[in-house]
Amino acid sequence: MTDLLSKFDDTIALRQGLIDSGVTDPFNLVMETVESPTVAICNGKRTILLGTYNYMGMTFDPDVVAAGKKALDEFGSGTTGSRVLNGTYVGHKACEEALKDFYGMDHAMVFSTGYQANLGIISTIAGKDDYIILDIDSHASIYDGCAMGNAQIVPFRHNDIEALEKRLKRVPEGAGKLVVLEGVYSMLGDIAPLKEMVAISKANGAMVLVDEAHSMGFIGENGRGVAEAQGIIEDVDFIIGTFSKSVGTVGGFCVSNHPKFEILRLVCRPYVFTASLPPSVVATAATSIRKLMDSADKRAHLWENSKRLHAGLRQLGFQLGTDEPQSAIIAVIMPDLEKGAAMWEALLHEGLYVNLARPPATPANMTLLRCSLCALHTEEQVGEILGMFAAAGRATGCIS
Ligand SMILES: Cc1ncc(COP(=O)(O)O)c(C=O)c1O
Repeated sequence: MTDLLSKFDDTIALRQGLIDSGVTDPFNLVMETVESPTVAICNGKRTILLGTYNYMGMTFDPDVVAAGKKALDEFGSGTTGSRVLNGTYVGHKACEEALKDFYGMDHAMVFSTGYQANLGIISTIAGKDDYIILDIDSHASIYDGCAMGNAQIVPFRHNDIEALEKRLKRVPEGAGKLVVLEGVYSMLGDIAPLKEMVAISKANGAMVLVDEAHSMGFIGENGRGVAEAQGIIEDVDFIIGTFSKSVGTVGGFCVSNHPKFEILRLVCRPYVFTASLPPSVVATAATSIRKLMDSADKRAHLWENSKRLHAGLRQLGFQLGTDEPQSAIIAVIMPDLEKGAAMWEALLHEGLYVNLARPPATPANMTLLRCSLCALHTEEQVGEILGMFAAAGRATGCIS
């Protein structure tokens, strides 16, 4: 018998090597108690959370929690069915209405996760003879959507406008073209030049899909994302998003003004062949989305946090993923996995949780300590975080 799992031997050895070196396993942290969107108890210790995607701090919002409890009482714990059979309740429709209002768009389709939204929409609209031109640093769910649809995949260099144009011009005449971009790229926290890229895509006859997973709620005047901030949201054909970040629960969606959009509900396999979200989840999502419409103060505070952390880390001597803060994600570049893991552990001992990210998730083989800020981090907490980075950085030799 061939052991089908032996293809993972290299990964097993890498992981074992890390554990044998004596560091805490960075991919196995347990939160024993979660006190708020910014504080949890991990290994019995109060820990500031700087590695969640709870950008707008909605997970403990009293209205959001109350909506979930009410739906749980009134509709039960789950739908046990697909959206196209027994899995569409009034709550799913209300959630789609909230999304339409939030984005000012005609159509909204809620999926069970953001991963499934990308998988479903991309694989359904771009098929065998179509071309998908995508940023090489795209999220795994985008690549998986491309693979599932069997379209021709044409990657271009990250955020490179000229490379996108060149690839578009090489697509055979008359072929269907979909350009896939992200608003914020989650590993380095950098934003896309959507204004230029969408214009070039349109000029070359392509439809455009933008994944705004890491910008929804925060970036843009109304929190609609980078496309809104750059004034071209009307030109984007499909926006993909998730409820697992700023919205503070789980789920995914696509919004669009395309007049034929509703047919996707019948032909999109990751929408049809899976159970719909529980009523409590869509109730929390709808409530959260509506509150995010009116969250300008929180957005302003989150920008302040991002600027303060970026400037402070830079002053301490850390190398960062972007020259300026561009989103709620600040990536600290580590020299290698060993130093990254040691620094991650030292921060945890200080009482700070960040994400350790390594290839293949990261670009250019980088090891990163990714910091994701929350609108509910106080100015004092950001000060505490910087103190912890200073202590851990000196203890591990990452800074002098
Ligand atoms: C850019 C991007 N798109 C989609 C997703 C998937 O979202 P979800 O967690 O809802 O599956 C993620 C998740 O990290 C993401 O970063």
